[in-house]
Amino acid sequence: MNPNNQQRRILVTGAAGFIGCHVVHQLLSKHDHHVVSFDLLTYAGNLENLKAFEDHDRHTFVKGDIRDAALLDQVLKEHDITDVIHLAAESHVDRSISSPLDFVTTNVLGTVTLLNACKTHWSANLGEHRFHHVSTDEVFGSLGETGAFSETTAYDPRSPYSASKASSDHFVSAYSHTYGMNVVISNCSNNYGPNQFPEKLIPLMINNIRTNKPLPVYGKGENVRDWLWVKDHARAIDVVFHEGSTGETYNIGGNEEWTNISLVETLCDLMDELLEQAKGTSRKLITFVKDRPGHDLRYAIDPSKIRDELHWEPSISFRDGLRATAKWYLDNQDWLDRIVNGEYRSYYESHYNQH
Ligand code: NAD
Ligand code: TYD
Repeated sequence: MNPNNQQRRILVTGAAGFIGCHVVHQLLSKHDHHVVSFDLLTYAGNLENLKAFEDHDRHTFVKGDIRDAALLDQVLKEHDITDVIHLAAESHVDRSISSPLDFVTTNVLGTVTLLNACKTHWSANLGEHRFHHVSTDEVFGSLGETGAFSETTAYDPRSPYSASKASSDHFVSAYSHTYGMNVVISNCSNNYGPNQFPEKLIPLMINNIRTNKPLPVYGKGENVRDWLWVKDHARAIDVVFHEGSTGETYNIGGNEEWTNISLVETLCDLMDELLEQAKGTSRKLITFVKDRPGHDLRYAIDPSKIRDELHWEPSISFRDGLRATAKWYLDNQDWLDRIVNGEYRSYYESHYNQH
């Protein structure tokens, strides 16, 4: 493996998405690496998320599809890519329920196409080049009221999204066992923070509060998620990428379990304060809607492996992170206005009108 401080040329897929842009920031600000951001710019990809690196001399953007084998070959060669951090994916559970095949083609076929391209490009010294696959805790299924997912929990994906991510994880492991590729996999809990597309719970609620729209809580709001500040995830990816052991998986979580309803109520009170409106104003917008089919009850991560072996821990509490997040969206309302466009509006209407 390359020593820690050696300059690398890293391909970051999905770099224009929510987590990807924070990973690019982490890599450029904390290391001397070159970063090639690769992204198809689907509805979820946004070049504005990479604007800060536009003129950075160690950063290049390439628009492309991870399912395009010829383009991948060309990019790996042209930029002499030494390593990959793979985040590109279709990422929203609700969309996977209505369009499962999009998740198969990007998350499964796209990942295997990328693995193949890397295997060929690095064939002279495969073991020296790292392939970091960024995955989710949702591959482990749903927990009851107690317990937490560890790295040895059996996979039990239950949505088309988690099934496609589980499949991609298995292919990545298979390329390590079969061909000797130098892979690491990280499985993370729910992220929140700046730059997240407003189809996901927290930015959706912030966007609806600021525009005085109903806040759709699925079922009774009793489902539990373990929330992690996105910049802490980017730090964890940095540590796993540089220091994780070949062939290993690492679970990443925030130790912050919240029911959806208590999260939304806390966010409502915070937004009332930030918008300087009477306490209780935003809570009046909460509307319980039909539950998501197959809605996983609870996710929770046991982060002891990454904490004990790689000395990573979350840096901020959920309450502080939620405040910083709400402030960011209110300070960047033009960012929100620009992406709440025709595609999002028609998705929103067709999804939420069924409820
Ligand atoms: P996102 O939807 O915000 O971003 C995904 C990015 O991938 C977008 O920029 C999109 O344009 C790009 N993309 C999609 N299809 C592509 C293709 N065929 N070729 C090239 N680029 C393509 O997602 P995110 O929340 O940033 O998640 C990133 C990764 O992290 C995903 O693999 C996801 O499964 C994983 N993850 C997300 C969370 C979370 O809470 N958001 C938690 C754990 C793991
Ligand atoms: P989401 O952000 O879609 O992440 P995931 O499904 O990957 O965990 O949803 C987080 C939780 O919030 C999940 O339990 C579903 C719920 N939810 C709602 O109650 N209303 C909504 O409008 C959305 C998008 C999610």
